[in-house]
Amino acid sequence: MDEDEIMTDVAAASSTASAFDSFNTKKSKGKSTETKDSHSANNAASDATLPWVEKYRPVTLDDLVSHKDITSTNENRLPHMLLYGPPGTGKTSTILACARKLYGPMWKSMTMELNASDDRGIDVVREQIKNFASTRKIFSSGFKLIILDEADMMTQTAQNALRRVVEKYTRNVRFCIICNYVSKIIPALQSRCTRFRFGPLETSQVESRLEHIIQAESVNITPEGKNALLSLSKGDMRRALNILQACHAGYEIVDQDAIYNCTGQPHPNDIHAVMTSLFNDDFTKAYSTISLLKTMKGMALQDILTEVYNSMEIYDDLPDNARVYILDKIADVE
Ligand SMILES: Nc1ncnc2c1ncn2[C@@H]1O[C@H](COP(=O)(O)OP(=O)(O)OP(=O)(O)O)[C@@H](O)[C@H]1O
Ligand SMILES: [Mg+2]
Repeated sequence: MDEDEIMTDVAAASSTASAFDSFNTKKSKGKSTETKDSHSANNAASDATLPWVEKYRPVTLDDLVSHKDITSTNENRLPHMLLYGPPGTGKTSTILACARKLYGPMWKSMTMELNASDDRGIDVVREQIKNFASTRKIFSSGFKLIILDEADMMTQTAQNALRRVVEKYTRNVRFCIICNYVSKIIPALQSRCTRFRFGPLETSQVESRLEHIIQAESVNITPEGKNALLSLSKGDMRRALNILQACHAGYEIVDQDAIYNCTGQPHPNDIHAVMTSLFNDDFTKAYSTISLLKTMKGMALQDILTEVYNSMEIYDDLPDNARVYILDKIADVE
């Protein structure tokens, strides 16, 4: 892949290289997608050691199960972008897949990935951006892409410095700012970008992608196990994959119990027992039921409380005022 990278400026080449060098985690991500790019039987062995989140990081836009609005962007009308949303919803994957689609095999030389949570000063970052942005490639007239991942970790000062940079280099680069909390990005920077919100993935979307991975890895999972997995993942694809991999490693058959044991989350049956005891037994009995769960199964009180709160919905025969009273008290306890 490297041979067909012709840079007009050697400095730019080395600066991109160093940008990737200094971000070790990013580099390994790049590598893993690389292995997938040239997926063949003989690198299956090295794939086996990869966490599934990296092994199955979407390579093309079609692998992404959501956010079709962004994925229809094309090179000539690429705006500056701001991608935000909770973890594990595909922000980093989407922009990397976009870059691959836009630039084809040369995508690495046309994009620069900076991790803003890396604590080097804005000066270093600015220098890198300047080097990268001010050089053009001989045979392509398109824009280059600078990805600023985890930008909500940047200080206000750094973000302020970035405003000018964004404007100055608009002619030949596009910025893509990625963050979890959009409120931590200064308004001036937000107004320079088109905002895309990545909400938690729908259950059906997580399911369709999981299905693919379950087949590829031939995981032996029961339907109840899958439902438990989907409800625990709460729209976070990364979490779903990590739990699935952990369970697959630890259990022959991944069923509901395996999933709950693996994550240490209270089993719905246990919560049901707690609720029944709370409603029907006297205080000492109910208290000992919960204590027993905590000691026998090693559950955290916090988790039990959260689940009790969630399961309030199921008891719809409760009168409204009783429900409000209970919720109020749970809030106090919490
Ligand atoms: N929309 C999606 N379609 C398919 N797979 C996805 C999707 N979103 C996430 N994944 C899976 O989850 C993993 C993590 O996704 P990614 O790194 O893109 O999340 P992120 O939104 O950048 O999270 P963070 O905010 O924590 O950086 C990917 O490797 C991929 O396997
Ligand atoms: Mg990310």
